[in-house]
Amino acid sequence: MNEIASLELKDVSKSFVGVNALKGVSLRVFPGQVLCLLGDNGAGKSTLIKVLSGVHQPTSGELWVNGKQHSFSGPHEALEAGIATVHQTGGTVPLMSVGRNFFLGEEPTKGRGVFRRYDRRTAEELALRELRALGITNVTDGGALVGGMSGGERQALSIARAMYFGAKVLILDEPTAALGVKEASKVLHLIVQAQMRGVAVVFITHNVQHALLVGDHFAVLIRGSKADEWAKGERTREQVLDLMAGGEAMGDLEEELRVIRGGGSLPTTREEVN
Ligand SMILES: Nc1ncnc2c1ncn2[C@@H]1O[C@H](COP(=O)(O)OP(=O)(O)O)[C@@H](O)[C@H]1O
Ligand SMILES: [Mg+2]
Repeated sequence: MNEIASLELKDVSKSFVGVNALKGVSLRVFPGQVLCLLGDNGAGKSTLIKVLSGVHQPTSGELWVNGKQHSFSGPHEALEAGIATVHQTGGTVPLMSVGRNFFLGEEPTKGRGVFRRYDRRTAEELALRELRALGITNVTDGGALVGGMSGGERQALSIARAMYFGAKVLILDEPTAALGVKEASKVLHLIVQAQMRGVAVVFITHNVQHALLVGDHFAVLIRGSKADEWAKGERTREQVLDLMAGGEAMGDLEEELRVIRGGGSLPTTREEVN
């Protein structure tokens, strides 16, 4: 592919005192592509997002945005480069209205002017219009408090806001983890809509089903290293599940459960299943 990556990590490592959270990770995501980042708890997913969104500086390695090398000294700089990150809670303020939330926070620069001369009616109308454009029709009052919205609606609001302010890269940290089936499917719809608008999406999840539904490209982190990477269709669901669980550990667990069912006892020491 000779297209320029929206976002690229080259051999990025990040160490904290006593922990190498990321070890030589290289990743690329292109416009209109969904990159799914899979990995168990502690694998380094959040650390990776924090490097991408300017919260952490890598210990070594390079970060490239749209063909240019960048070094972010804070989240603001990442936003200015068009990288919007939506955290699990949606990053919304419960005690503020839909309209306020839409224009609040650290959006890319286009929004500053609007924010400076806050116009409640325009803000609420715009927020509702953008939500409707994404198919979110059950939010009808721009003045309603976000605290009364569902988890999926809050995610939608944050995604709509990021797109409205011109995000080129949308990073979603476990957006479906706390949601029920219906709500999660709404968020998956939004991911596809962002993709169709040419946004590069980095979708962090440990839900293999959700990843396989929307992903074009996949990467698995295990203990800070990229353990595998593939394009859509190159792995079966079973292979992915096995990889995420750590194939050997699952084999051990299967054997242990078989022993228990057969009335036997477990060996006294065993490797932690993880
Ligand atoms: N600020 C930090 N200081 C020290 N260790 C950290 C810090 N952030 C993360 N870690 C460690 O880095 C590893 C990866 O963590 P994290 O990126 O949160 O994983 P994940 O999001 O995949 O669950 C863990 O061992 C975690 O304890
Ligand atoms: Mg995490």
